[in-house]
Amino acid sequence: PDVLVLAGGLSHERDVSLRSGRRVAESLRAAGVEVTVHDVDAGLLPTLREVRPAVVWPLLHGATGEDGSVRDVLELLGLPYVGAGPRASRCAWSKPVAKTLAAQAGVATPRFVTLPQALFRELGAGEVLRTVLDSLGLPLAVKPSRGGSALGVTLVRSAEDLPRAMVSCFAYGDTALLEQAVQGTEVAVSVVDTGDGPRALPAVEVVTEGPYDYDARYVPGRTEYFAPARLEPDVAQRVADAAVAVHRALGLRHLSRTDLIIDADGVPQFIDVNSAPGMTETSLLPQAALADGQDLGALYRAIVEAAAT
Ligand code: DAL
Repeated sequence: PDVLVLAGGLSHERDVSLRSGRRVAESLRAAGVEVTVHDVDAGLLPTLREVRPAVVWPLLHGATGEDGSVRDVLELLGLPYVGAGPRASRCAWSKPVAKTLAAQAGVATPRFVTLPQALFRELGAGEVLRTVLDSLGLPLAVKPSRGGSALGVTLVRSAEDLPRAMVSCFAYGDTALLEQAVQGTEVAVSVVDTGDGPRALPAVEVVTEGPYDYDARYVPGRTEYFAPARLEPDVAQRVADAAVAVHRALGLRHLSRTDLIIDADGVPQFIDVNSAPGMTETSLLPQAALADGQDLGALYRAIVEAAAT
């Protein structure tokens, strides 16, 4: 085929990835591109060697799709692929690394600390959590330092809820990221680059009754989206600039989505960046592209063509 879409895999975000893969494949086919979707398993490497697609599109969310390892393998095989290379994938996949690089690029990000489980064993969980609370205060967002789709994420408003939040978080990874929870307008800014430099699509605003958790993301109707976001032009420009700055600072390619919260002073605070953003029917990048007046098939085709060159 022209394009081999990789989807599924064994990460916590397997189902999301299958939905992303199907949607992108449908749009590409509508744009006249020949596409096969491969659910990643032990048959993948023989398939890649035999089929030698013109372009691979890894629509794998979570490890190993976003941690750089599948991209390492594609590099070994010498196959062109859509999206970030291994190094940039690793930087985006690790929230503390991405936050550090965003801050270096001049994009504000909430104060944070990372807590590996081993530190709890060495210093005692009670002492560690008390120290964090004294320094960062409440509310706190507790999340796996690597992960997606809000799995294992809890917004902690009172100290007594913190231990349970840590347990949920450690179910998804061995290091937790605790950051000051910013109150404000939640927006996602997708960036695309089809060969003429990274360009921000209109910001999409996310409004939920409760937390923007897994169900709120993927059950249609659970979340209200405003595309474009209801922002003053100067704030819209600031969030667009922040997303492009992050895309460049991490060395991302073709597409990315930066999630930000606009604080009470109108400052975009970097939360995280996705090197393989969701492409399901409720996902944010496709909504942003439609709000921009783009045809999804034409856009995805242009991305594939950029990856092929
Ligand atoms: N991790 C999910 C797929 C997203 O960021 O859209």
